[in-house]
Order: sequence, then C-alpha cells, then structure tokens
Amino acid sequence: MKHTVVRVMCAIGQSGQLGLDGGLPWEGNRAPIYRADVARFFELTRGHVLLAGPKTIASVPDYARTDRELVVVRSSMDPEETLSRFAGRIVFIGGGPPVWDAYARFVSHWDITRLPYDGPADRWFNPNWLLGKT
Ligand SMILES: NC(=O)c1ccc[n+]([C@@H]2O[C@H](COP(=O)([O-])OP(=O)(O)OC[C@H]3O[C@@H](n4cnc5c(N)ncnc54)[C@H](OP(=O)(O)O)[C@@H]3O)[C@@H](O)[C@H]2O)c1
Repeated sequence: MKHTVVRVMCAIGQSGQLGLDGGLPWEGNRAPIYRADVARFFELTRGHVLLAGPKTIASVPDYARTDRELVVVRSSMDPEETLSRFAGRIVFIGGGPPVWDAYARFVSHWDITRLPYDGPADRWFNPNWLLGKT
C-alpha cells in the first residue's frame, strides 16, 4: 500500500528564530544566502504537497502557487486523516509552530538551514520536533 512521505524544509536563525511579525525574521534582506534559501525551498517543494497553517500558506508568493499543491490545515483537522489523503505523494509540512507540534511525529526527514541571522523573533524552532515530541 502506498504511504505518504512526510518531510519538513525550514530555515532558522542562529538561535532557532523562525518568524517575526508574520513573516520571516530576515525578510527584506537581499543578501544571496537568504535569497538562495527561499529559491531552494520553492525548487525542492515543486510538484509536491505543501501543507501549512493559514498564515504560512497566505505568504506563498504568486509564482509558487501553480506548480505545487497548497493545503491549508486547521486545528480542527485530524493530522493522520489529513496525511492519508496524500498516499503516494511527498508532503512538506510548512509550519508554523503549532502545525509542526501536531505533525512532527510523522516526519521522516528534516531539512534545516541555519542562516546567519541573529536578531529578534516571535516564532522559534523547537528541537523536540526532531524526536517526534512536542
Ligand atoms: N523560517 C521558516 O522556515 C518558517 C516556515 C513557516 C513559517 N514561518 C513563520 O511562522 C509564522 C507563521 O506561523 P504561525 O504559527 O504564526 O501561523 P500559521 O502558519 O497560520 O500556523 C498556525 C495555525 O495553524 C493552524 N493549525 C493547523 N493544524 C493545527 C493543529 N493540528 N494544531 C494546532 N493548530 C493547527 C492553527 O490555526 P486555527 O486554529 O485557526 O486552525 C494555528 O493558529 C510566520 O512568522 C512565518 O514567517 C517560518
């Protein structure tokens, strides 16, 4: 029977910074390392399913909306049942933190880029996710 391959690709700052004011903490920084990270994310998730909370899905740029399947997940949805809808596909769990809390136990591959950013944040990476714990 086909199963769903569940992956995460995310980027963090030096101390685990994930988000700030609804965007990436390093938003607007045009340095090549930040631009390359965003480009890599949209390249490697192309053709697959990107499943994320409403704010994260809303932040997907127009150019990346047609060549992948975007799925908004809500707290009312059962993670196991939701993932079972995508048997045979690769599903990237796109965050934010409450979504990783709920889906971490299903993830078989984490791809984390640690960027040189070391400023403020209001969303943080939780290392327990790597162990499937929340
Ligand atoms: N650095 C990175 O790689 C990265 C990646 C993604 C996001 N971010 C950042 O994270 C921030 C956005 O994340 P966010 O958490 O604020 O908003 P979000 O993306 O909307 O995700 C959180 C929402 O997901 C919903 N949800 C879906 N399934 C859930 C479940 N099983 N349990 C609990 N909630 C569930 C909840 O909304 P309901 O209760 O309304 O359903 C919750 O409020 C932004 O700053 C963004 O830039 C960073």
